[in-house]
Amino acid sequence: MPTAVTHATAAVAGTATASGAAAHAEWQLARRAERLNPSVIREILKITERPGIISLAGGLPAPESFPVQAMREACQRVLADTPREALQYAASEGFGPLREWVAQQLGTLGMTVNAAQVLITTGSQQGLDLVGKVLIDAGSRVAVEAPTYLGALQAFAPYEPEFVAVDCDDQGPVPEALGAAAGARFLYVLPNFQNPSGRSMGAQRRSAVAEAAARLRLPLVEDNPYGELWYDAPPPPPLCAAAGDGAIYLGSFSKVLAPGLRLGYLVAPQAIYPKLLQAKQAADLHTPGFNQRVAFEVIRNGFLHTHLPQVRSRYKAQRDAMRTALERHLPAGCRFSVPAGGMFFWVELPSALDAVALLPQAVQAGMAYVPGAPFYCQAPRLNTLRLSFVTVAPALIEQAVAALGRVLAQALVDAPKARP
Ligand SMILES: Cc1ncc(COP(=O)(O)O)c(C=O)c1O
Repeated sequence: MPTAVTHATAAVAGTATASGAAAHAEWQLARRAERLNPSVIREILKITERPGIISLAGGLPAPESFPVQAMREACQRVLADTPREALQYAASEGFGPLREWVAQQLGTLGMTVNAAQVLITTGSQQGLDLVGKVLIDAGSRVAVEAPTYLGALQAFAPYEPEFVAVDCDDQGPVPEALGAAAGARFLYVLPNFQNPSGRSMGAQRRSAVAEAAARLRLPLVEDNPYGELWYDAPPPPPLCAAAGDGAIYLGSFSKVLAPGLRLGYLVAPQAIYPKLLQAKQAADLHTPGFNQRVAFEVIRNGFLHTHLPQVRSRYKAQRDAMRTALERHLPAGCRFSVPAGGMFFWVELPSALDAVALLPQAVQAGMAYVPGAPFYCQAPRLNTLRLSFVTVAPALIEQAVAALGRVLAQALVDAPKARP
């Protein structure tokens, strides 16, 4: 049955015409649907799934780090002990013991959290969508870092905000520049091992940003999926520890257990928690109760105390392998700094090079990266790219970075010729 989609014309119901020929239905998209775009990264991932390509593009945790045996045992225990409760509809707020666990865990990071403020979400990505739904009107300003997490731009964009990019340096938002964000609905901030840049905010920077935001009466939305993936020293306390009711905090089990669980959480002040909860009810009623019980069963007795050091040591070795490979293979004029945690290196190429244009050549050479441009809400820097070091083993990292180095070196030879 043929159908048509239109953005501006009235919808026509499908009915038979007098001549007997079937008229076709015409779908009319909402304006916000026009703001929904395919994830650049997911599109790149499709190309890089071709055999033979070493992908440093996706931010996929190493499958070897997934706690398969612990999950298997936990599934069995949940199905033996509480099968009917686990398979039934459940509370939208989340599984009580898991909410308690999250509140306690955040207490160890310096935050004061009541379990009643915790909303378990279907990945922290859903938390971002709920925040957008509840806090953004068409035309309202939302302040973000430059660059920032592409998935957040995607989550917020359909609510039609006007993005404001705050000035950043190698520690993230510059406190003195936050005035540009005055009047925004919130500042979306990633203090730990930021996706995509890998940078982190020091303790002083965190206090200065929290103080500046409080002075400006600017709410914070703090996203921290990578905080536990530190390789040198644990990061300073979250901004939320100082910001109190002026902040929403987002966390995730994707990087500490497994992303397939789709388990995240947010912590919100009492004033807006009910609205976030209602938005969640409208979206999915609740996050899968079975997954929540299984995850709780895995972590309840301190499992992460032994699991996380293993993940950290695996990723630290991979980070160091990438650092060595980048030092060895990148041509002169490329710059990067070593992330103290997380999953990503951010590389700045000489200004004549365009990472978007060079991607097909990199894929041809057998490797893939994510160009940096889509991570900017405005004024994209074309000469940047992101490399993930967690998914592939050190020998493959070396091979992929060597291929990247060759592509960049050739592009530098060609670049002056390309310019008038
Ligand atoms: C900064 C950031 N926030 C949120 C997410 C979403 O994570 P999830 O929905 O798996 O919890 C990601 C995923 O990579 C991320 O990098």
